[in-house]
Amino acid sequence: MTYETLIVETRGNVGLVTLNRPQALNALNSTVLKELKVAYAGFHADETVGAIVLTGSERAFAAGADIKEMQALQFADIYKSDFISGWDDVAKARKPVIAAVSGFALGGGCELAMMCDFIIASETAKFGQPEITLGVIPGMGGSQRLTRAVGKAKAMDLILTGRMMDAAEAERSGLVSRVVAPERLLDEAFAAAEKIASLSRPSVLMAKEAVNRAFETTLEEGLRFERRLFHSLFATDDQKEGMAAFVEKRKPAFTHR
Ligand code: CAA
Repeated sequence: MTYETLIVETRGNVGLVTLNRPQALNALNSTVLKELKVAYAGFHADETVGAIVLTGSERAFAAGADIKEMQALQFADIYKSDFISGWDDVAKARKPVIAAVSGFALGGGCELAMMCDFIIASETAKFGQPEITLGVIPGMGGSQRLTRAVGKAKAMDLILTGRMMDAAEAERSGLVSRVVAPERLLDEAFAAAEKIASLSRPSVLMAKEAVNRAFETTLEEGLRFERRLFHSLFATDDQKEGMAAFVEKRKPAFTHR
């Protein structure tokens, strides 16, 4: 597959996707969506890949959905085609995805970062949902995922004013897990992805499922779901190996990676 808008590589056990539309600050058009789905499907089919890093350029992770592509669209057409609903598939990636964000992550770009499992930001990162300044509102999950990530006060502030927040504010608010110097960004994201990829795959996938369930259900159901997953991991060789390795003071050699 030749990609027009992405650079897709595998480095060891980590899949790397780099958004690559520099002329448009990585604005997300329908080709990016189509290609990202293909890239993720390839990584999911590849047993050797245990985690994915999604990044952009130094200047922009992504400056939003492509305004030039959307500008002339009519309500009836976008409603009939359920425009941009395909991004839900991107958010449903089963393997862990880390967003490594430098520069602008605005509108759909911020929403794409929030579709990842966690965000590592460069000190230069700027997050925002500026759609209101275009006469629209977020459409790829911003009003829902940002509110869950940072709470009502900050989400309302950002979505109603369209202002940007810097990396320090994003970390304080709980949107990003770590902020690093720009030159450390990819190394930091890779180190985290490699660590995840070195662990037992069933436990990694279940951990992701369990955390995501917290956003979709009641506490009681979530606790039950977590406990059942926890129980089921005792059916794996890797639980025996992981615990034996701890007791024997050695590194575990997991089977399922
Ligand atoms: N769509 C299409 N093209 C975009 C774009 C976008 N979202 N963002 C930037 N570009 C293009 C610019 O049009 C410009 O192209 P030309 O050179 O052909 O004119 C190029 O990228 C560079 O951008 P600027 O010259 O504007 O760069 P800057 O440094 O002066 O400003 C910026 C950077 C503040 C990020 C500014 O580009 C900007 O405000 N971009 C739009 C941000 C935005 O509103 N995003 C939300 C989009 S709507 C959305 O995402 C809806 C949704 O939820 C689904």
